[in-house]
Amino acid sequence: MGRFIGFGWFVLVIAVVFVAAQKKLPRNIRIQCLGNVMRVDVGPLGGKILEVAAVMNNATIFLTPSMASQCGFSMTVCQFGNARIYASLQNCFVQSEDDTAFTTTLKLHLHGNRMGEDEVYQVSETCLYTTWASREIVCERNYMEVSMKRAAPDDYVLPKHPAKGANSRFGDPRRDAEKHPEAGSRMNTLIITTPAPRLLLRSPKTSPETYTQIVAGVPMTVVKTSTLFEKKWLATEIDAAAACPILEGSVFFTSNSISWFLPRHIDPLISSGQFQLLEVHIGVDGQKLDAAEMAARQYSLTVNDKHIIVEIPIGAVGGYFKSHIQDGQYLTSYTIEPMIEMLWTEDSTHGDTHYKVLLPITTPLLSRPPQVIDNTIPEERVFKVLFGPFSSDVALMNITFPSEVLSEADCKARGINVLEQMYPESSSKVLTVEVPFTDQVVLQMREMGITVYTLHITLGLVVLPEFAPFTHTAYLEAKLVENVPPSISGACDNQNFYILVKYGTHGFNFQTTVGKQILTPRLAQQYSFTENGTHFSFAVPFSSLDVVFESVQLSSIRSRLDVVLKNPETSKTIQEFSMSCNNISPLTECFPNGTMTAWAVKLESVPSLNPSQLTLKDPTCGPVFSDDHYAYFVFTANSCGTTRKFLPNVMLYENEISLPDELERKKTDSKNEEPEFELKVSCYYDINKTHAVAFHARPRRSEPYAENAKGELQVEIRLASDNSYSAFYRVEDYPVAKYLLQSLYFEVELMRSTNSKLSVELENCWATLDVDRTSQPRWNLIINGCANPVDPYQLILHPVWPDDRVQYPSHFKRFEVSMFAFSEDKETLSRQVHVHCDVVICDARNPQGGICTGLCSNQENKIKGQRRAIPDKDSVKHVSSGPIHLS
Ligand SMILES: *[C@@H]1O[C@H](CO)[C@@H](O)[C@H](O)[C@H]1NC(C)=O
Ligand SMILES: *[C@@H]1O[C@H](CO)[C@@H](O)[C@H](O)[C@H]1NC(C)=O
Ligand SMILES: *[C@@H]1O[C@H](CO)[C@@H](O)[C@H](O)[C@H]1NC(C)=O
Ligand SMILES: *[C@@H]1O[C@H](CO)[C@@H](O)[C@H](O)[C@H]1NC(C)=O
Ligand SMILES: *[C@@H]1O[C@H](CO)[C@@H](O)[C@H](O)[C@H]1NC(C)=O
Repeated sequence: MGRFIGFGWFVLVIAVVFVAAQKKLPRNIRIQCLGNVMRVDVGPLGGKILEVAAVMNNATIFLTPSMASQCGFSMTVCQFGNARIYASLQNCFVQSEDDTAFTTTLKLHLHGNRMGEDEVYQVSETCLYTTWASREIVCERNYMEVSMKRAAPDDYVLPKHPAKGANSRFGDPRRDAEKHPEAGSRMNTLIITTPAPRLLLRSPKTSPETYTQIVAGVPMTVVKTSTLFEKKWLATEIDAAAACPILEGSVFFTSNSISWFLPRHIDPLISSGQFQLLEVHIGVDGQKLDAAEMAARQYSLTVNDKHIIVEIPIGAVGGYFKSHIQDGQYLTSYTIEPMIEMLWTEDSTHGDTHYKVLLPITTPLLSRPPQVIDNTIPEERVFKVLFGPFSSDVALMNITFPSEVLSEADCKARGINVLEQMYPESSSKVLTVEVPFTDQVVLQMREMGITVYTLHITLGLVVLPEFAPFTHTAYLEAKLVENVPPSISGACDNQNFYILVKYGTHGFNFQTTVGKQILTPRLAQQYSFTENGTHFSFAVPFSSLDVVFESVQLSSIRSRLDVVLKNPETSKTIQEFSMSCNNISPLTECFPNGTMTAWAVKLESVPSLNPSQLTLKDPTCGPVFSDDHYAYFVFTANSCGTTRKFLPNVMLYENEISLPDELERKKTDSKNEEPEFELKVSCYYDINKTHAVAFHARPRRSEPYAENAKGELQVEIRLASDNSYSAFYRVEDYPVAKYLLQSLYFEVELMRSTNSKLSVELENCWATLDVDRTSQPRWNLIINGCANPVDPYQLILHPVWPDDRVQYPSHFKRFEVSMFAFSEDKETLSRQVHVHCDVVICDARNPQGGICTGLCSNQENKIKGQRRAIPDKDSVKHVSSGPIHLS
């Protein structure tokens, strides 16, 4: 063990613990011949101790640092503990053949530690070098060497004592080394003669024989010797000199580059007046680079009349970063070993000089804080964050979240991805961490359709090999708008539908259909389309063909506009919107001069109707105006088949709008289907005033349809003369006279319907004194389908059977009440009654419950306290009988 103590310089104690080094990789030792030097890459030491010995003539000579510098060896351990040995082709232990082939044999002993076993390798390489210049100068990290073509004849011998000049010592260090390795420390500058035809001077840079000289502003270490060779009485003196740049004073740093200045004319090496620079090359790690490689690595070389200047960007290929932690701060240094080779020539005596200098350069500590780059795409629902760049000597230990600390393995098990991307050219790496939004370490906050995800993440890192810990923290936030489809809203006034479409979240591309048409730019213009980035709106007039009419009421039309948003690619509906509005407009007008006007509108349920074909009762009376939506009729009370009826105080004019052929069929065939279109126009005229009071449309519909109107038009109430219900009082028979308690036989009929599924049900029937159905006093006959239980003379419902007149019994209801009178006081009875009913038209295909079940549900509902189902307004119809007088 004691033997190694003296080899401290070479005994490298490297406590690197690399995961990779724990695996037993076959060692890949590479040897390269680089001109007049040889490079041995030993590879990562993995915490082992490397001992290098030279092998010559079966003898093993351990290389101590001082012997290495005297014998032409240098060694470095760079990034990750990679060991590298440089050997001069003229090292002390080389075996040369014809001064062109140089064989060096080394024994590498890697002493095992806890991490592994001992490894011993013997490597040997023969390098060919034929292009010897008259003088070859090599500046290595620990020595300088000059080799000169021997001017003196071979049989000259070395002088016995030092010649003038430097404190030289003569001898063969190989022999000395074999005998007393320690003696090297005393042998500083060596002049060595070998059988080879060259004279060699080698000096450790630190030897006392060296001195510093400023050459063109650049400090250089210089050594000079003068050697006297004797042969008998002849003596020849040979001068040898080497000069190598000193790092400090020749290398300058900026924040992003390194500049190395080398004198172009190295004065201590040039003695003649003639100097001509022939070649300049640069290289790295002893390897010469060509112009293309230099350009690719962004190295630059400038030669001016004073200097050769090499500029290398910090981080360029060829060097490496090393991390340092200072006060928790992450700092880096950059190391590179550039080389300059020059070839110059002097006069014929001096010949040419090949000058090579390898200069390891390390920058001062640089503050290049690693960045956090948030590459999260919220829609992917994963936080993606990049940390770096870090130098490749940084290793991730753990990841800290506010709630927990996870190792890399924990992360993997949890679905948190940690990716390490290496950039070998710049010896750096980037760490990417991917945390799904669903992981418990991600916090969520929802607000108005936007979810905000937050992540607080701290990487626990160490710098190898010293295990210096440091951390890097990121705080991330991602907002995700929940995918909202476009939405539609609308409004209307008396002229237009106003549609407002709110764009959904990004990604909803859609096509808008208005009514039956696609909203093209032309149509958009027609509908006053406007847009503001978040919404668009347009207005569709009621008269537009894109509007459909659902139904008509006395003085209004119920119109509907449909807007559909579709995916143009898939034609899938994204959003549907329908809006119905009542457009108040008198459909029938009656003027005092006897002119009547009527609008017939085409309802959605009668799509095939062509309004222009509609006529009044007189088929020659067509519309004065029509389009696909409307027909407009103007006629007078005494034309176009208008009928008139005299009623008390008023005159009733009536006409009908229908299709002429419908009219024909109705005449010839009573079993006809419901007419496709029929519109009754009625005008009441009294002496002083004129007003339109009725308007009826009865298009074919799937639902029972009735208008709040005079009963005789669709549902009629009649008074039969007896219980056979075969004869009825006519309009002109009113008022009908009856005795008190005489039976009154009423019949209610759903007129003109051939739909056997329909039925009429009596919801409420009552009697009033006045013609006004809402007037008081009032006496209830039927309440919610049931006979008034408190009436002492209860109403009797009579079943209806088919006969000549009755085709569909369900279209009829018959009931019997006893004639009665309202008494104004004890003495005087009122002379007249009117009977009114609320009639519900029920559709067996579409039961509405309640009264349509045909059962009297009054008692039951009262007991249960429930509300009965309210029938659809449209299917409730009011009928009133004419006045019945008490005789
Ligand atoms: C080196 O050793 C080998 C065997 O160990 C022997 O054969 C060889 O002759 C030796 N060479 C020299 C130069 O001593
Ligand atoms: C996480 O790693 C860092 C190294 O940067 C270390 O200092 C710390 O103790 C580790 N934390 C845990 C809980 O292991
Ligand atoms: C666009 O118009 C809509 C409706 O008028 C309005 O609510 C919205 O604020 C407008 N947006 C912009 C960006 O002006
Ligand atoms: C009847 O009166 C209306 C409204 O005043 C008018 O438009 C129409 O021309 C008149 N008709 C006749 C026949 O005078
Ligand atoms: C109609 O006018 C006459 C006089 O012109 C008047 O006596 C009568 O009361 C009016 N009728 C109505 C219903 O206003």
